[in-house]
Amino acid sequence: MSDSTDGDAIPAPEGPANLIETDYEIGQNNVQLLGLDIHNPVFAVSGLSVVAFVIITMAFQNTIGPVFTGMRDFLTSTFDWFFLLAGNIFVLVCLGLIVSPLGKVRIGGRDATPDYGYAGWFAMLFAAGMGIGLMFYGVSEPISHYSTSFGGVTLENGVRTDWAPLGGAEGDAAAGEGMWRNCRSCHAIVADDGTVIQRGGRTGPNLYGLPGRAPASVEGFRYSDGLHQLAASEGGEVWTEELFAEYVADPTGFLRAHLGDNSVRSPMSYRLASGAEDMWAYLVSVSPEAAPAE
Ligand code: HEC
Repeated sequence: MSDSTDGDAIPAPEGPANLIETDYEIGQNNVQLLGLDIHNPVFAVSGLSVVAFVIITMAFQNTIGPVFTGMRDFLTSTFDWFFLLAGNIFVLVCLGLIVSPLGKVRIGGRDATPDYGYAGWFAMLFAAGMGIGLMFYGVSEPISHYSTSFGGVTLENGVRTDWAPLGGAEGDAAAGEGMWRNCRSCHAIVADDGTVIQRGGRTGPNLYGLPGRAPASVEGFRYSDGLHQLAASEGGEVWTEELFAEYVADPTGFLRAHLGDNSVRSPMSYRLASGAEDMWAYLVSVSPEAAPAE
């Protein structure tokens, strides 16, 4: 990039090059306006579209929300194959360029040398990739916590419902009911008046009213020491969604971490790999005072 004498001209290629003959000069149709160098049709069309878009959105805020959501859902569910395919094709084309003769084409003339070294390029690409994530989540993360905190502290059956545990996943009680078959061999759900909500085994305690009750609190069930210790420990006084989710994911691991004692074992040998929030929502829905808000 060193040969150009005139700042505005295209730099002359370094070494031999196949130049295309044209009398087009860059910027020949531009207009100068307010100190800007503007390509008239491009600027006018894109500028007007942006302004029209913003005005229409502002004017019909409530109507346009569902339109955008619908469009996004339609595009992402109808053209998901296209996004995936396109991404893969881009990668394959790049890989193909590495091995094909086209990869040898040197932009800027046959003797041109890069302005930046590999380290510089990696740094720029990395910064661009990271930067966009930091810019986006730097704003979206605090805003989402801020908006979930609006409700203040709310407790239902001893369960905090004002935050969104599990990364905001909202439980689906119907899906949880469908998952009951995983628990049935050892647990039942039987209301205090004897109504059987879910038939099941007796290896584990009745799970009726679990949300908000203390761990190891079903009378007549012989719990392990670990679960009694959990109930006596700080932060383990009551089953909350967090505790529940951590517990069912790995009962022994959870007790060990929570009690700081690696000799505890949980007699519950089952681990629920995913869907704890749905299971919890189901247990809440069959609890004595089913949470009104959710
Ligand atoms: C293989 C049998 C078995 C299966 C399957 C099983 N559990 Fe358990 N579960 C137990 C046993 C045994 C205990 C008592 C643990 C103790 O005493 O430490 C228990 C305890 C619990 C507790 C603590 C209850 C309390 O009163 O403090 C919860 C919550 C629980 N299980 C949820 C589940 C859920 C939800 C499922 C299904 C996704 C499930 N379990 C599947 C055997 C099982």
